[in-house]
Amino acid sequence: MCGIVGYVGNKDALPILLESLKKLEYRGYDSSGVGLLGHEARLIVHKSKGKIRNLEELLASQKLPFAPAGISHTRWATHGFPSDINAHPHTDSRHTIAVVHNGIIENYQDLKAVLRKKGCKFASETDSEVIPQLIAHFYKGDLPAAVRQAIAKLKGTFALGVISRDHPDVIVAARVGSPLVVGIGRHENFIASDVPAILDFTRRVIYLKDGQMAVLTKEKVEVYGFDGKKVTPAVDTVAFNVTVARKDSFAHFMLKEIHEQPGVLEQMLNLRLKNKQLTLEGLGISDDVLKRTRKVMIVACGTAYHAGLVGKYAIEAMARLPVETDTSSEFRYRNPIIDKHTLIVAVSQSGETADTLAAVREARSKGARVIAICNVVGSSLAREADGILYTYAGQEIGVASTKAYTAQLMMFYLLALKLAQVRKSMPPKELKSLAGHLLRIPALYKSILKNIAHVRKVAEANSHFGCFLFLGRHVNYPSALEGALKLKEISYIPAEGYAAGEMKHGPIALIDEYRAVVCINPASHVHEKMFSNIQEIKARRGNIIAIATQGDKDIRAHAHYVIEVPKTPELLSPLLTALPLQMLAYFIAVKRGCDVDQPRNLAKSVTVE
Ligand code: AGP
Repeated sequence: MCGIVGYVGNKDALPILLESLKKLEYRGYDSSGVGLLGHEARLIVHKSKGKIRNLEELLASQKLPFAPAGISHTRWATHGFPSDINAHPHTDSRHTIAVVHNGIIENYQDLKAVLRKKGCKFASETDSEVIPQLIAHFYKGDLPAAVRQAIAKLKGTFALGVISRDHPDVIVAARVGSPLVVGIGRHENFIASDVPAILDFTRRVIYLKDGQMAVLTKEKVEVYGFDGKKVTPAVDTVAFNVTVARKDSFAHFMLKEIHEQPGVLEQMLNLRLKNKQLTLEGLGISDDVLKRTRKVMIVACGTAYHAGLVGKYAIEAMARLPVETDTSSEFRYRNPIIDKHTLIVAVSQSGETADTLAAVREARSKGARVIAICNVVGSSLAREADGILYTYAGQEIGVASTKAYTAQLMMFYLLALKLAQVRKSMPPKELKSLAGHLLRIPALYKSILKNIAHVRKVAEANSHFGCFLFLGRHVNYPSALEGALKLKEISYIPAEGYAAGEMKHGPIALIDEYRAVVCINPASHVHEKMFSNIQEIKARRGNIIAIATQGDKDIRAHAHYVIEVPKTPELLSPLLTALPLQMLAYFIAVKRGCDVDQPRNLAKSVTVE
């Protein structure tokens, strides 16, 4: 993963690098560092374990010269512990060349062995350190040439920023498989892992393509292929704005984002379903193609994948089209059976998830059309898909996805409506009725949020359990998976999501008085089946937290705790059950003193496979 930034210009690079780097902290926060080029042919490198604020503290204690060029990095550890030594930038043994790297060098051990034989001394355990060592090995006075030669030896993925003591006014950048943009300013130029990182400084950008290198000075940017041939890149002007998210009076971004959900959905419905008239602007696929589609294939990772699982129920129920779902990382390596009649729906909050991008490329190479459901405007996924349905949920800072998830769910219901309309698979009256229910969801969200104090009590009373099971059936089976993921990622409590009907086939062995079992059982055609499962858990002394529809009296007699959600058609119920699950996870994690917004080992955007 990792985020990289580079600056060359007339100004002092350090404040610009730090400001921009903070916007990339979502990509990892195991360590960070800067490499600066001073006027006296000095290469200054400072790095620190942990979040960027640790680096800032370290830098505040240093006397640093004015440096008009530099690179910086925020790390998500792949090879080597999070530590000062393993932090980027890495340098060659003679400390003349510094590199920041996002990606994975797969053949680093072979390269390390060769370089060691040539006398290179390695300081870190990282794969990345071979890059400056290789560049230094090839360097004969021409930095871009040395980078080109080094790159030819690398296997894997990389976005690189390279500086050298001998070239105090040059940054060399290159990419294969990891995103990198070049920002063009007046008498200054930038590199960054994404556009928002540098949007305060420039709106003119070049999206570097795989296999391209850029050489930046303060007055010019030149782009080359790895074969050394100059190319004329397209320069885009970024039209979108990024509002800087603030916590306001909320204790955490996650709590704020949970509360933002009614507004996010209201805005989406205003845009897409005004007066029950569906407008899926950006869809990019004609009604004709939608009619001819034989199969939908949903690909995504993590929470976005869970949204896709709900999407499968919605599309199959409403459009009567077969839907397959797969995690992007599995899809891309299994030679999936798809063709031009397959519609791929790729889901991603960030639009930068490496596996999802690779899955999209795989699908397109087989002739399938791709629609992206994505939150980040201008992201790689948005640019690569045939159609883009933006969720416009606003910047999501909490690593645990909340508002992006429910916005993805809502988008799936809208897409299912569209497919059902086009394919005439549902009577218009029923479609209209479902649209009416969707329009009521934001108001229902507000009523669920009013109950937050009760959810907090339930969470606090159960926060001591060392293991949680989440059970659901039918369309709320994905809700169980998502509830478990939410809890484990922010509280570190082992939690499993299961289809309740599968419980007897194994997980029931876990149940005793020391386990908490969250049973998601809103009113539905499987309500009674789920109710039987609840009895089975009770008979084994499991502690039951039920999520049920208001007015469900029976459940009170059997569950230790009940969290109610309002009534809505069964198919739409995952929209409602998502909220208590998010709140439960949040309050349990807070009670246990966890770093809710930036949980250990995670990053907001997973840009390595
Ligand atoms: C969600 O809470 C997770 N942090 C994670 O599973 C996430 O949904 C996944 O990494 C996919 O990210 P994307 O939506 O940006 O592609």
